[in-house]
Amino acid sequence: MKIDSQISPSQASFQQNQAHHLHQLGEFNALMANIQGGPDAAIRDREHAKGKLPPRERIAQLLDPDTQFLELSPLAGYELYDDEVPAGGIITGIGQVRGRTCMIVANDQTVKGGTYYPITVKKHLRAQEIAEKNHLPCLYLVDSGGAFLPKQAEVFPDRDHFGRIFYNQARMSAAKIPQISSVHGFCTAGGAYIPAMSDQTVIVRGTGSIFLAGPPLVKAATGEEVTVEELGGADVHTKISGVSDHAAESDAHGIFLLREIVAHLGPHKSASVRLQTPAEPAYHTDEILGILPTQLSKFFDVREIIARIVDRSDFFEFKANYATTLVTGFAHIEGIPVGIIANNGVLFSESALKGTHFIELCCQENTPLLFLQNITGFMVGKQYEHEGIAKHGAKLVHAVANADVPKVTVLLGGSFGAGNYGMCGRAYDPSFMFSWPSARISVMGGEQAANVLLTVKNQQLARSGKKLSAEEEAALRSGIHATYEKEGHAYYASARLWDDGVIDPRATRATLAKAFAATLHYEWPRSQFGIFRM
Ligand code: COA
Repeated sequence: MKIDSQISPSQASFQQNQAHHLHQLGEFNALMANIQGGPDAAIRDREHAKGKLPPRERIAQLLDPDTQFLELSPLAGYELYDDEVPAGGIITGIGQVRGRTCMIVANDQTVKGGTYYPITVKKHLRAQEIAEKNHLPCLYLVDSGGAFLPKQAEVFPDRDHFGRIFYNQARMSAAKIPQISSVHGFCTAGGAYIPAMSDQTVIVRGTGSIFLAGPPLVKAATGEEVTVEELGGADVHTKISGVSDHAAESDAHGIFLLREIVAHLGPHKSASVRLQTPAEPAYHTDEILGILPTQLSKFFDVREIIARIVDRSDFFEFKANYATTLVTGFAHIEGIPVGIIANNGVLFSESALKGTHFIELCCQENTPLLFLQNITGFMVGKQYEHEGIAKHGAKLVHAVANADVPKVTVLLGGSFGAGNYGMCGRAYDPSFMFSWPSARISVMGGEQAANVLLTVKNQQLARSGKKLSAEEEAALRSGIHATYEKEGHAYYASARLWDDGVIDPRATRATLAKAFAATLHYEWPRSQFGIFRM
């Protein structure tokens, strides 16, 4: 049934909201353009002079013409270290190569020689996790000096550090998920294992090299003097050692060979899903900016957002009159069926039950889930505890955790407390998770946290007959506020990879279409639920 929008672009509130968000998005899009614009002209020219392409140019050549790239986490590393590490020093994303949907992982050699900061490792592992779950071939465009040595303790020893990259390659290869590398620059030490662990590897003559230790280290260790080409260049590895399978004459030729390898991959399975002919929403996606209020605390009807992201604005609502603070229903995005679970207020016991029922339905019918989060949390108070809101909330969390259909989460507004869990936050393994720039994520709001901490502090002081002065209270309150403001910001979260990217709200439909399309290349397992607390 088509959603009947109550919004008109001529309303004053629409125009105020739109002006506010356009201003915010101006800053956001400038930041993204800076990151995605690639290196400065001087650095780009230097790379070209070496016969090398910067990573985004390599990716552009790799992708099928006129196809879209779903870039993941471009804000990774933003204001995270003393050095600037644009996009976390590695570009990852999903795109079409010779008609096949692939995960692409490209080192950025212009950021500290392509070395791996902790966030670089995290981003590489996240790309592999998405590839593994969705059975996407992995294409590695390698150009990296290996670990960023000053931070070795944060990149080398632990389970989810550098070594996990090669572990993942071995596991994915065993699971018949192709692992393919093209070596465009140095592949030193640990980095040498990326091509060595691949099913097929290309190396570019003159610029690509693979070795466990470079010439300076060899000289220091054994006294042997050897050039880069003699030690681990294209001829060595394609004629003598067999570490690589194909020699390319240039960066562009390496990418051509990579595309040829993909063209000769075998068939893959598909999800059993009923697709429809795609159609645009009845309302323009750009109107989202006029609907989204300027403050998080202001209510907006999430159906107005749904009307602007789903095909034909058709939404078949489930239990429309029951537990109305959680909106559930069926729709399509670019022809792909989705079951939508969206917040329209605080979560009550019955909202949790409705959500649980709906998730079971979607799992039964093989329908992917879309969570639209704007949630302050579950309702608190004696009445609600007595009716068992904790066990009802637990049912929703249990269903979300065990739902094995693809799940995509978008943070539209607040994402606070256990509401984040019940609505498929990062810990619940959504296939993808995106945030709008105005979204905020934290255990609770800054105001609430300040109140809790002030109460605790005053109770503590009361035991020794003391009390905070008004000035001390104000200082504590403003400090907590500032911390929550900073750490709850969408950019702060995305810089640390708590999501897969911040997106312009106007790009939500297009992003979701690409994300759900990436989940269609394997047979989704049947979901199995455990014990729901009754
Ligand atoms: N850890 C930390 N920083 C590194 C680094 C590493 N492993 N390798 C390179 N860098 C830094 C350099 O200090 C330089 O920093 P700066 O721009 O602030 O001066 C920057 O990365 C670029 O290095 P540079 O050598 O100028 O660039 P290049 O393109 O000529 O060569 C490498 C890049 C990676 C091939 C080369 O620097 C190298 O061989 N590094 C050592 C690799 C290594 O042995 N790694 C072992 C890790 S397991």
